[in-house]
Amino acid sequence: MRFDVMTLFPEYCDTVLSESIIGRARKNGYVEVNFHNIRDYSENKHRNVDDTPYGGGKGMLMAAPPVYNCYKAICDKLGEEKPYVVYMTPQGKTLTQQTAMRLSSYNNIVILCGHYEGIDVRVTDEIVDEEISIGDYVLTGGELPACILIDCVSRLCPNVLSADECFEKESHSDGLLEYPQYTRPYEFHGVKVPDVLISGHHGNIEKWRKEAALEITARKRPDMLKK
Ligand code: ADE
Repeated sequence: MRFDVMTLFPEYCDTVLSESIIGRARKNGYVEVNFHNIRDYSENKHRNVDDTPYGGGKGMLMAAPPVYNCYKAICDKLGEEKPYVVYMTPQGKTLTQQTAMRLSSYNNIVILCGHYEGIDVRVTDEIVDEEISIGDYVLTGGELPACILIDCVSRLCPNVLSADECFEKESHSDGLLEYPQYTRPYEFHGVKVPDVLISGHHGNIEKWRKEAALEITARKRPDMLKK
């Protein structure tokens, strides 16, 4: 799977995505992430990418030409295959595990990170396939949301997680939160591991985990059960 991130801060994202599991997946070639500095595609000598909005109002907007030029350069590199373009914006649909699963089936995803007060709508209308938000709050830019999307989608791609890091039974994969987990020591601050988990009886353990997942979801996220 390949991601191309259009941003004004390429080093920012690269640092975040060079650590831990995603860093390992990139090194091993299971996920490719390329960063493109939109400023490199500015058409003026000061390398400006922003301008004041028509009609007045506060703040600056990202202008259409550098964003479009950057997108075109990525498409030219990719050749025949048109990438799926995602724009990180608080106006988008909220990211869910289901969205991540759907996106993990694409070969090429381009992620556009906004800044300032937004982007000239003519370019987003032309190139964007889907708008995604990471929640109902506003950040200073789309870089952190892009990193979150890449992390969340990449870990669903083949070979990114090892067998013991598998995602099949984790929270949100089946509409429930994950059951509680325990490891050594057997007793911690007076609290023992539930007997069933040391019984060795796989059927009972499975049943206990299902019930515990339901109970924990009802307690922490009752809205998920209503769905
Ligand atoms: N850019 C700024 N805030 C954002 C959010 N909540 N989600 C996605 N992109 C954003």
